[in-house]
Amino acid sequence: MDKSQFLPEKHTQSPENGKVSWQSPSNIALVKYWGKYGEQLPKNASISFTLSNCHTKTNVSFQKKESEGFDFEVYLDGKREKGFEPKIQKFFERVEAYVPFLKNYQFKIETSNSFPHSSGIASSASGMSALACCLMEIEKSLGDFEIPEDFFSKKASFLARLGSGSACRSIEGPLVVWGEHPQIGKATNLYGVPYPYTVHKNFENYQDTILLVDKGEKQVSSTVGHNLMHNHPFAEQRFEQANENLSKLIPVLKSGNLSEFISIVESEALSLHAMMLTSHPYFILMKPNTLEIINRIWDFRKETGSKVCFTLDAGANVHVLFPEAEKVLVSEFIKTQLTQFCKNGEFIEDSVGFGAQKC
Ligand code: DP6
Repeated sequence: MDKSQFLPEKHTQSPENGKVSWQSPSNIALVKYWGKYGEQLPKNASISFTLSNCHTKTNVSFQKKESEGFDFEVYLDGKREKGFEPKIQKFFERVEAYVPFLKNYQFKIETSNSFPHSSGIASSASGMSALACCLMEIEKSLGDFEIPEDFFSKKASFLARLGSGSACRSIEGPLVVWGEHPQIGKATNLYGVPYPYTVHKNFENYQDTILLVDKGEKQVSSTVGHNLMHNHPFAEQRFEQANENLSKLIPVLKSGNLSEFISIVESEALSLHAMMLTSHPYFILMKPNTLEIINRIWDFRKETGSKVCFTLDAGANVHVLFPEAEKVLVSEFIKTQLTQFCKNGEFIEDSVGFGAQKC
């Protein structure tokens, strides 16, 4: 693991000001990251589908300054959002060694999400990855040197990870692995890499409909949840299980065996929440409607033979995953049977995508 590859070359240009814009999607983990150490390093490998419709667009305007320290303001949908600034301050502190121009400029960071901020969908993955791409775009303008596309993505993912772990899996798509794994030689704890093996066409354009069960602030943040994995009675078994689940997923992604896929993905979701139920202090992020939806999905599968399944992130919302071939059948099922369990009947239809884009 070599972080030094991300230290910048000497900057030869020094523009007075400029503006860059990137858009980056959210992602949904199939094998979950839950537990970290050191500087945002994962305790086990994870893999996710990059999404498409749920994304953050970020503009960064920069102006040269003489003063010391970081100087930035954050705007959400055109309104100053001071509540985001401590997180960005921490991010800047962590990445400064790799993008040392941060102290030479005053930044205006303008961000907007394609999904409602109050939807309970984590915006940290899309937000931090979009910001990391903007910083890389600025770095590009500071030197005569070329930044090859693959290095741009790698370093953007490396920076994004220092903002929020799962954000490092949003730069590319459609499947991204983060964390060392014995069967995936290229995978590293430092950044996400595109899944390097064959993927069956059953997984092409896979669908993810996000059911918004609870739109409030999470009672327990991911950061607190990750920390509770230190001294957790089942931590070691969990990290091993996640790595084994990723091993099991490799032949499944190749063969397209959707029944096996379902059993790995649903077990991962419930294992993640089992860690929360057995932490000290313990907590529950699922709501009664989360369980209603899960049971309806299981009944529907039994009745119809459909390959629809669910996964969860650190909240009550349910991600309903299904192959594109079942789009008509499952969309109808969602509308008639599941939306009644969503807050105000709200849900977001998404599908697998290809990562961050310059705008
Ligand atoms: C449950 O990436 O939000 O979504 O690194 O503290 O920012 P920080 O945590 P975060 O954790 C996300 C955890 C998860 C599972 C996953 O996406 O793998």
